[in-house]
Amino acid sequence: MLTLMQAPEIYKFDAALTDGFFSSLLQLIKLKGANLYMHSQQVANYAVSVAAKMRLPREEIERIRAAAMLHDLGQITVPNTVLTKYPYLSTREMSVFKNHCNAGSYMLENIPACQELIPYIRYHHERWDGKGYPKRLKGVNIPLGARIIAVADHYDRFINPCTENWVKTKDEAIRELLSLSGMAFDSDVVRAFIEALG
Ligand SMILES: [Fe+2]
Repeated sequence: MLTLMQAPEIYKFDAALTDGFFSSLLQLIKLKGANLYMHSQQVANYAVSVAAKMRLPREEIERIRAAAMLHDLGQITVPNTVLTKYPYLSTREMSVFKNHCNAGSYMLENIPACQELIPYIRYHHERWDGKGYPKRLKGVNIPLGARIIAVADHYDRFINPCTENWVKTKDEAIRELLSLSGMAFDSDVVRAFIEALG
């Protein structure tokens, strides 16, 4: 007779990458919009390059990759009328938008394999100077994975015509990152990002 196995390996993070659940989450992002999906892929590519440049362990790079793919999962709860107006939002609309960080982590909170991704997703809009959201975490209190995703996210928003209207060249985007280094972003991450871009 078959019995349920106490098999901890099924809850290992790698299992989440290959099973249908992770694919379903990505499909949800795709359904919200092709642009959001492409942005998620780009952010994951950048984040992995930075994590590798910072010589993080392979398992951590994989966690960062998965969290980066899902960092804006919570945006499926934000009306398109709000998303298309960003960043020109009313106070009320801005609070709806900002809630995507909590919404994304809430969706994953009962999934054992995703527990280590949640802080990276929840805190990807925190700022090094403590002026971000949702918790106003500061400096190294922000998980490194979230700090890496934050830089990758902003860079893609600067140069990706599929995101906002802030289309910039690579050089302009790098200058923008450097101007925010040590304020919005961890300067070590910004340095690694620019090195990784080559
Ligand atoms: Fe976001």
